[in-house]
Amino acid sequence: MKCTICGDVAAINMPQHRLRLCEAHLQEWVPRMAQRAIDKYGLFTRDERILVAVSGGKDSLSLWDILIRLGYETEGLYIHLGIDHEGYSDESEERVRAFSRAHDDAPFRVVNLEETYGQGIPTLAHDRRRSRPCSVCGLVKRHIMNRVAYEGGYGAIATGHNLDDEAAVLLQNTLHWQAGYLRRQAPLLPASHPRLARKVKPLVHLYERETAAYALVCGLDYIEEECPYSADATTILYKELLSRLEGRSPGAKMQFYLQFLQAKGQGLFAGGAEAEPPLNECTRCGQPTSAEGLCAFCRLWEPRE
Ligand code: AMP
Ligand code: FES
Ligand code: ZN
Ligand code: ZN
Repeated sequence: MKCTICGDVAAINMPQHRLRLCEAHLQEWVPRMAQRAIDKYGLFTRDERILVAVSGGKDSLSLWDILIRLGYETEGLYIHLGIDHEGYSDESEERVRAFSRAHDDAPFRVVNLEETYGQGIPTLAHDRRRSRPCSVCGLVKRHIMNRVAYEGGYGAIATGHNLDDEAAVLLQNTLHWQAGYLRRQAPLLPASHPRLARKVKPLVHLYERETAAYALVCGLDYIEEECPYSADATTILYKELLSRLEGRSPGAKMQFYLQFLQAKGQGLFAGGAEAEPPLNECTRCGQPTSAEGLCAFCRLWEPRE
C-alpha cells in the first residue's frame, strides 16, 4: 500500500477520501483538515487564546498538538476527576504533563476536584445517589471549563470530539427525534451569555481512526483506557452500527453528519425553537443558570442530611 502523494509506504488507507497517506503526509493532512473546519465554521480567529480541554486521550491530545502546529495560542486544561480505578485520573494527568514537556513546556493547568472541592466524581455521585457518575461528571466538567475560560479571558474552549463521536450522538438524537438536541448539535456552540465561553470542536471532520493514526505517527503518549464508568452500551452500539454502514459504503458516516449540518444550515430545524429560559446568575458562583438561587453545580456540593 503506497502513499497517494509520494509513493512511500502508506500508514493509513482512507477509502472515504480515496486517499492513502505515509506518516509524513498524514502529519500534514490532519492539521489541514482541522484548519479547514476552523475556517468553514468560523470556530475562532488567530487573535484569540484557546483553552484546550485535554483528557489525556488520543483525540484531545491530538487536538492540542494540531493547534500548536497550526500556530494558535493555546493553554491545556486537565480536570482531575478523582477516579482511582487503576489510577485512571493520575495516569491521565501524567500523559498531559508528558505532552507538555514534549512540546516545549506547553502551558496547561490542572483543576483537581478533590483538592478544590473536597470530593472526586465517584464519591460525589455515590453521595448524591446518582446511579450514573457520567451525568454528574458532565455537569462538573462543563462548569469548570466555563469558569476557567471566563476567569482566564479565553476566546473559546476546544474539545476533542471527532466525527465518530458526533455521528453517534446524531444517530441517537435522530432515533429519538430530540429536536432541541439536534438544533444545538454543532461544531460551534456560541456563548449565550458574557460569562459563558464559546465551545468549539475542530476535529469534527476527522474519523476516530484518523486521529488515532495521527497520535501514533506523532508519537503522542496517550491513555488508551476509557474511563471506567464510560462503558455506555448504547453509544458503543451506535458507533458499531455506523461502522458497519461505513464498511459497506465508505464515507457514509461523514455524509450522515455533514449533510445534517447542511440541512440545518438550510433551516431544517429552524421552526419551533423553544424560547431559551431567562438566565439568572448563581448566588454563590455567579455562573449563569436557568435556576433561581444556586446553579446545578453549586447545588451538588450542598450538605445532605
Ligand atoms: P468525553 O466526554 O470523555 O468523550 O470527552 C470529550 C472531550 O471532553 C474530550 O475530547 C476532551 O476535550 C474533554 N475532556 C474529557 N475529559 C476531560 C478532563 N478530565 N479534563 C479536561 N477535558 C476533558
Ligand atoms: Fe466522567 Fe467518566 S464519569 S469521564
Ligand atoms: Zn507520502
Ligand atoms: Zn453556582
